Amino acid sequence: MSQALSTNTAVGVIGAGTMGAGIALVAAQAGHQVFMFDAAPDASEKAKVNLVKQLDKRVDKGKISQEKRDHVVSLLTPINNINDLASAGLVIEAIVERLEIKIEVFKQIESVVNDDCILATNTSSLSVTAISAGLNRPQNLVGMHFFNPAPILPLVEVITGKLTASSVAKSIFETAKAWGKTPVHCTSTPGFIVNRVARPFYGEGLRLASEQAASPANLDAIMKECGGFKMGPFELMDLIGHDVNYAVTKTVYEAMYYDPRYKPSLIQKDLVDAGLLGRKSGKGFYDYNSPTHQSIDYLAQVSAPKNIVIVGDLGVAQALVDMAKAAGIKVEHQAANVDQTGYIKIDDIALALTDGRTATERSAANQTNTLVFDLALNYQQATTIALAASIHCDDTALAKATGFFQALGKQVLQLADAPGLAVMRTLAMLANEAAEVVHQGVATYEDVETSMLKGVNYPAGPLSWSEKVGVALIVTVLRNLGTMYGEDRYRVSPWLTLCAIPAFHSSQHSSQVKES
Ligand code: NAI
Repeated sequence: MSQALSTNTAVGVIGAGTMGAGIALVAAQAGHQVFMFDAAPDASEKAKVNLVKQLDKRVDKGKISQEKRDHVVSLLTPINNINDLASAGLVIEAIVERLEIKIEVFKQIESVVNDDCILATNTSSLSVTAISAGLNRPQNLVGMHFFNPAPILPLVEVITGKLTASSVAKSIFETAKAWGKTPVHCTSTPGFIVNRVARPFYGEGLRLASEQAASPANLDAIMKECGGFKMGPFELMDLIGHDVNYAVTKTVYEAMYYDPRYKPSLIQKDLVDAGLLGRKSGKGFYDYNSPTHQSIDYLAQVSAPKNIVIVGDLGVAQALVDMAKAAGIKVEHQAANVDQTGYIKIDDIALALTDGRTATERSAANQTNTLVFDLALNYQQATTIALAASIHCDDTALAKATGFFQALGKQVLQLADAPGLAVMRTLAMLANEAAEVVHQGVATYEDVETSMLKGVNYPAGPLSWSEKVGVALIVTVLRNLGTMYGEDRYRVSPWLTLCAIPAFHSSQHSSQVKES
């Protein structure tokens, strides 16, 4: 049973709403006869009418042939009686997100289908184990979590509950592959992979906004133009809908026994309470009825510095050195003191990549006016750089740092002196969560990376991205955030901590042993 289901296997889809209709189309396009059932009268017929319209558009655009369209249409079979599922070898449920209702529906299905029929749930937040535990054949139930819109987004999380037979999970994995999807394996834990690892993308953004580090529009600009994300967290939450996004966060938070890592945000709850749900209600963080809803406060143009000194090694920001030279800035190099991280010296100021401390803390520690800048996905390609100055910093020092980045062709955005700035802080928390998922055996390193690339379109997998930055720096950022906030939220995953420890050189060790 661990191979892909043959196209002779009929597939049942229960629930013909947003997800059920999309899943039915995916299965029919792969060549299966698909029985569509919905509790609401005529819902599955209506869903088929809409799917036929979508297929017709694809024919008009030349994306599929008329023959293919006709074949897919012939395979989509609305049914009004659940008994008509008797011949199905796979039934995928995409009904209302309520545990007791899902169990009830699966019990009904179990009584109709053959003993070896696979039962799959598209739940996005319920425990697959809990759904299966109410059934006669719990080993046949597996999670098959598609992403919206199902016909377009490639990722499918195949979720193994405690009672799921491994052959069933393997068969669904292979079937999803045969349907042209990118499946990943994970165990039945709150949020599975994507909805868990993505929480900090919203959570850290919301924290920065609630602490008035910058406006949502400025934070979105930083995450896109500096961090390389397709959408910023605020416009994405507005698109998803705050009711939905807040509910997912709350569900994961509660299911994780109120772990502060997943704590929901009061500013998002306030939007939900006010009915400001985002695009669908016309207003969320942005006002979609106002043409000026995207105003971004780039700093005004100032003159470029003529000389800079690179002290030590800038690490992941080293590309800035060549860019400075190409911009006609004279660059000198100076060795750093032992244990000192690299920075850019411009006259009397220091400009350093954030390590999770504020500019105010670093200025006091270095006894130098230190400004910190944010991580970029790629410093060459980034069009914007975010920076923060110490609360004691004057305008002249800010202008020197601003002029440097502007000379490199970047727009500059200033945040209040927020620890870890926006991109670095978000990446550190995404990587920390991804590390926990791997550490706890929820999913493999590769599957976590794939999930975040294919499920939410991140510009890089959080783990490989943090390796490029340097895992030791990511751990330092998290520890400094932990010190600043005094909260368990920023505790470092043991997996990440171990990855940050340099390799042990046995030759050095043996010579030390001989000496002692
Ligand atoms: P929806 O509200 O668009 O559709 C649900 C459909 O199920 C409705 O047509 C409803 O009439 C039908 N239904 C409700 N109770 C039923 C029952 N007892 N028997 C048969 N049909 C019944 O909901 P949507 O968004 O399609 O979500 C369905 C499932 O997919 C949920 O479990 C949800 O968590 C999950 N999901 C949703 C995603 C999304 O972005 N909307 C993404 C991934 C998973």
